[in-house]
Amino acid sequence: MAGRIPRAFIDDLLARTDIIEVIGSRVPLKKAGREWKANCPFHNEKSPSFTVSQTKQFYHCFGCGVHGTALTFLMEHDRLPFPDAVEDLAGRAGLEVPREGGAGPDPRDRLLDDLFALMAAADQHFRDALKDSDRGKDYLKGRGLVGETAARYHLGYAPAGWDAVLKKFGATEAGQQALLAAGLIIERAPEQQRGAGPGFYDRFRDRIMFPIRDSRGRVVGFGGRILDQGEPKYLNSPETPLFHKGRELYGLYETRQEMRKIERLLVVEGYMDVVRLAQAGIHYAVATLGTATTPEHLNRLFRVTGDVVFSFDGDKAGRQAAWRALETCLPFAKEGRQIKFLFLPEGHDPDTLVAAEGKEAFEARVAGAMPLSEYLVSHFAAETDLTSVDGRARLAELARPLISRVPEGIYRELLIDRLAREVRMPAGRLSALLGLGTPGPGSSASAMPGSQRQAQPLRRPTGRGSLASQAIARLLQHPAAAATVGEPEALRLSGDRGLAVLAELIETMHAEPTLNSAQLVERWRDRPEHARLAELAAVPLPELEDGAVARELAAAVAKLVAEAGPERRIDELIDKAAGEGLGDDEKRELRELQARTRPLPDPAG
Ligand code: UTP
Ligand code: MN
Repeated sequence: MAGRIPRAFIDDLLARTDIIEVIGSRVPLKKAGREWKANCPFHNEKSPSFTVSQTKQFYHCFGCGVHGTALTFLMEHDRLPFPDAVEDLAGRAGLEVPREGGAGPDPRDRLLDDLFALMAAADQHFRDALKDSDRGKDYLKGRGLVGETAARYHLGYAPAGWDAVLKKFGATEAGQQALLAAGLIIERAPEQQRGAGPGFYDRFRDRIMFPIRDSRGRVVGFGGRILDQGEPKYLNSPETPLFHKGRELYGLYETRQEMRKIERLLVVEGYMDVVRLAQAGIHYAVATLGTATTPEHLNRLFRVTGDVVFSFDGDKAGRQAAWRALETCLPFAKEGRQIKFLFLPEGHDPDTLVAAEGKEAFEARVAGAMPLSEYLVSHFAAETDLTSVDGRARLAELARPLISRVPEGIYRELLIDRLAREVRMPAGRLSALLGLGTPGPGSSASAMPGSQRQAQPLRRPTGRGSLASQAIARLLQHPAAAATVGEPEALRLSGDRGLAVLAELIETMHAEPTLNSAQLVERWRDRPEHARLAELAAVPLPELEDGAVARELAAAVAKLVAEAGPERRIDELIDKAAGEGLGDDEKRELRELQARTRPLPDPAG
C-alpha cells in the first residue's frame, strides 16, 4: 500500500544486519566450526541440522531443506509479510524504511488510515441495516444461513435507495471524496448531473454485503449480492488504494481467527461457498473474488500452508478454470507442497454440495482430490495417442512448456518419472525429449539441492542443468569470485534460462562487487527464479580456498560459454530423432557433438 521499498535500502539493511543475531534471538545457536548450529525450528529433530553461515548471511537445514536470508527467516518463522520483515530488521538497525516516491513519513499513510476507518464504519452501517431489514434476513435464511454465521462473517445489507451511505458519510465535500476513494459511491456522468456541482449515488443498493478483510481483519472492500434475479449477481468494490481484487482471498482472516494451525486451505469460487462451508464446520475455505487464481494469491496461500486444494464446478467452465489454475500453480509446485484439484459433481458448488451431503462426505471429497501431477499427466494422456511415435513427440511438445515452469528439483523429477511411466519410456529419455537436461534415471536424488550428495566438485554428470546450477551455486556462495570471470555475453544469448540467470548474476557482481550472498539472492525475491537461487545459495559445496573457487568458477563459465551453441543443437537433434527421425548426416553430427560435450557416458541411453 505504501510505496515500494527501494532495492538499495534492502542492500543497505542486509549489510547492517547480522543473521546470527536475528536467528540467535529466536533459536539457541551454537558455534560449530565456522558455522552456527541449532535444532531446526521448522521441523522436529533431536540432533541439530539447522546451520547458519555468517559469511553468507544465509541459513539452511539439512534435515528439512529450509533456507534463506534473515528476511526469509522472519517471513517463515514469525510469519511476517515481506514489508513487515523489512520493518523488523530496520527497527533493529535503527533505520527508517523509505518508500519509493517520497521520503519521510508517507502522507498517503494518513489517507489510508482514513479509508480504513471509513470502511469500518460502512461495515457497521451495513450490519446494522441487516438487523433492521426483514428482506435481507429472509434472504439469508432462505439460503440456509444462521445468525451466528452472518455475525462471524460480518454479513450486512445495503438498503434500496440511492443515497443512504452518501447521506450518512458524505455530508462534506471531503467526506464525499473519501467515499469516492473507498469505492462506496459513484460519480454521475456529467450529462446526468442536474444543477450545480457533482452528483453522486451509492454503489451498493439492495444487496447482501460481504466485507472482505485483510490479514489484520481490516475491511478493504465489499462484495454485494443481488437478492432477486439481476445483473451483475455480485458487485464488487472497484480497485482502490485498499483493495486489489487479484490479491485478496475472501475468508482467510476468518480462517485464521478460527484455527490455530492451518493445515490445509481449500480454494473455492464464491463468497457463499466460504460462508456456507464455515457454517458446516469447514473453516479452511477461502475464495478468490471471481477472478482466476493469480501468483499473488498463491504466494499468500503457500505462506499459510503447504497443502492447497482448489475446487471447481464440474462443468466445462469449471474445468477450463481448473486448467488455468494448474498453469498458474506450476512455478509453485515443489517438494513439501501438496497442490490438489477437486472436481465437484455437475450442477453443484461447495455451498449446495455441503448442504446436500454434510461435512464428512464433503471432507472425504477434499481428501480424495486429484494431485497436480495426476491431473497434468491424465490431461496429456487424454490429448495424445501414446502408442504412436507421433503421439509421443506431440506429448513432448505439449508437456515441455508446462514442465519447464516447474522449479528444478525433486518435484520436477518425480513429475517427469510419473509422465515417463505413463508413456512407458525411460525417464532419462523423456527428459532429453523434453529438453530439460535433468539427470538420468536412478540419480534423481542428486538433483536435490541440499542433499549432501550434491557436494561434489564442479563437473557435469549429465545434461546441461548441472554445470550451470553448480556454477550459480558457487557464484552465489562466493560472489567475489565473479570478478575473475569474463563478460558473460554468450550465456545471455544462449536462450537458456539458467544460463541467462548466471549471466545476470555475473553482471550484477561486476557492477556491484561488494554484494554478499544474501543481498544477491534478495535481488531476485520477486522473480520466478528466487526459490531456486535461494536453494543454490544454501547447497553444500566442497570447501576451497578463494583462489581455487575463482579458478573453478571461471573454468565452469568458460565451458558453459563454449557449449552454449552445441547444446542447443543437440537438443534439436534429439527431439528430431524421437520424432521424424534423423538422416545419416544428422546422426553423425549428433554423435560428434555428444562426444565433444559429453565426456561421461549418458545413463539415459
Ligand atoms: P457464482 O456465479 O458461481 O456465484 O460466482 P456463487 O458464489 O455460487 O453465488 P450464489 O451461490 O449464487 O450466491 C462465484 C464468485 O464469482 C464472483 C463472486 O466472487 C462470486 O462469489 N462473481 C460472480 C462476481 O464477482 N460477479 C458476478 O456477477 C458473479
Ligand atoms: Mn452458489
